[in-house]
Amino acid sequence: MNYLAKPERYQNMQYRRCGKSGLMLPAVSLGLWHNFGHIDKLENMRNILRLAFDSGVTHFDLANNYGPPPGSAEENFGTIFKHDFKSYRDELIISTKAGWGMWDGPYGDWGSKKYLVASLDQSLKRMGLDYVDIFYHHRPDPETPLEETMTALDLIVRQGKALYVGISSYQPEESAKAFEILKDLGTPCLIHQPKYSMFDRWVEDSLLDTLEGYGVGCIPFSPLAQGLLTNKYLKGIPEGSRAAAHRGNGAIDEGEVTEAKIAKVRLLNELAVNRGQDLAQMALSWILKDKRITSVLIGVSKPEQVTDSLRCLENINFTNDELARINEILK
Ligand SMILES: NC(=O)c1ccc[n+]([C@@H]2O[C@H](COP(=O)([O-])OP(=O)(O)OC[C@H]3O[C@@H](n4cnc5c(N)ncnc54)[C@H](OP(=O)(O)O)[C@@H]3O)[C@@H](O)[C@H]2O)c1
Repeated sequence: MNYLAKPERYQNMQYRRCGKSGLMLPAVSLGLWHNFGHIDKLENMRNILRLAFDSGVTHFDLANNYGPPPGSAEENFGTIFKHDFKSYRDELIISTKAGWGMWDGPYGDWGSKKYLVASLDQSLKRMGLDYVDIFYHHRPDPETPLEETMTALDLIVRQGKALYVGISSYQPEESAKAFEILKDLGTPCLIHQPKYSMFDRWVEDSLLDTLEGYGVGCIPFSPLAQGLLTNKYLKGIPEGSRAAAHRGNGAIDEGEVTEAKIAKVRLLNELAVNRGQDLAQMALSWILKDKRITSVLIGVSKPEQVTDSLRCLENINFTNDELARINEILK
């Protein structure tokens, strides 16, 4: 059946400016790392993407290696895009990345110009797109000169294959160097994509200040610690959950659902309920309370999780007592 987006899709979403750029992103964006591979059901993916867009989620985040198998999330997205979203292209921000191992030989990994340019060409073919809105270097490369990697990002923009560029998982100091190089090249860095959740707060040390100083946006990934920061693991590891699925490629497994973590999750869950939220909502609100955050990048395995998580926007304010209690629990 032909898809017609809901006319009221922009009513309830909040949009935030990405650093000092002209681009606004939805406060909640959707990532296709897991649950969009060839091992997953296309109908479920379609339902998730339609519901997200109908709810004002205008940003979908991909990478060359998402699947499994690698590349299949882009292929599946391309199939759905062609059918459902082509006429909405100008209402969408689509991103992809390269930086992790993608194909055999010396040119399919890390940060050379050869790899990044070839990888984006492949991504565009898989997704059936003329350009992506944001292209990221997916992780720092200790061997390739930063100048080469940043020059590749600049080239890609000049070629018209991406509108903006970003970096992911770079430390504060190397981020600042990358921003300087990109600024000199005339292609300012739009956004940084770091891992950030209640369980992993490294960005608070200095990365967020660095980003603010350079006018670069921030879109944290795995804000629910891959599902740990929800109520789903309170009574063991449910069938079908990410920890039970053994999906590989960095997905959590049973070993990461520890008693110590669940003890904290239980206390956080009580606090969330007192705020009138579920834990997933509180974990997302907690990230969005910081004005330096542009958007929070969630993953979902079913459409209901989109609906549930988006309700985080109903309460992103925390009292000092709530924040102190959260810090105490996370200690
Ligand atoms: N730049 C990078 O290096 C990098 C790395 C990782 C991810 N990312 C990006 O970040 C995105 C999000 O990462 P993530 O998938 O790890 O994010 P996440 O939001 O921390 O975890 C997503 C998982 O949490 C569970 N979940 C989500 N909403 C829920 C809800 N309302 N109630 C209960 N459970 C819920 C689901 O688990 P179940 O599957 O168990 O239902 C879902 O698959 C990725 O898709 C990708 O775009 C980037």
